[in-house]
Amino acid sequence: MASHDAPASGHERIETSNFLMIVLILVALSVGGLVEIVPLFFQKSTTQPIEGVKPYGALQLAGRDIYIREGCYNCHSQMVRPFRAETLRYGAYSVAGEFVYDHPFQWGSKRTGPDLHRVGGRYSDEWHRVHLINPRDLVPESNMPAYPWLERNALDPSVMAPRMTALRRIGVPYTDAEIAAAAGEVSGKTELDAVVAYLQGLGLAR
Ligand code: HEC
Repeated sequence: MASHDAPASGHERIETSNFLMIVLILVALSVGGLVEIVPLFFQKSTTQPIEGVKPYGALQLAGRDIYIREGCYNCHSQMVRPFRAETLRYGAYSVAGEFVYDHPFQWGSKRTGPDLHRVGGRYSDEWHRVHLINPRDLVPESNMPAYPWLERNALDPSVMAPRMTALRRIGVPYTDAEIAAAAGEVSGKTELDAVVAYLQGLGLAR
């Protein structure tokens, strides 16, 4: 070790200077982070949809927006982890290629309620309708909030085309025909119809 009066050199100079230490730690972390993160943007397994994954239809997309608006993600994750306890309960674990059209994704980690990634097809549409209007009609001990207004609110068809066009700009391959048909698909439908359509489409690819 250098004595007190010898001029600090090399590593000691770094370790005894808060400023240098902080800057160099940030540089080291940034390099490490970039090396781990950047390749993910170019890997097939994280950027390509797996077979069977399609962009959300107009009604499902409207439902997804309501799911986000109502904050369902505060209690529900959409990410089955690769553990036996999870796959036994929910089904096949989630893979990145299932979420390429999710902007933003709804993985989450808060599970006041069950994970919803594989809920598609598990219950009937009618079950979901009754459950969303008042969960306690079906699950007496449930502490999930009731969403009775979903049944009363009509969807606004005019917002669908701009939304789908925006998604297309960031890579979701909607065709012109799909975008043109979107308003018609949601007209006359309620928010409840949309959320149920969204839930029923979740996680079917695996
Ligand atoms: C305060 C937390 C909370 C919020 C917010 C919440 N839930 Fe739930 N959810 C639960 C709990 C707890 C359960 C389990 C009991 C039950 O089935 O009601 C549940 C169950 C469910 C189930 C059945 C899942 C299964 O596998 O049995 C669905 C579907 C569901 N919620 C959808 C939604 C949707 C859609 C929203 C938003 C509109 C929402 N939840 C908001 C707590 C919540």
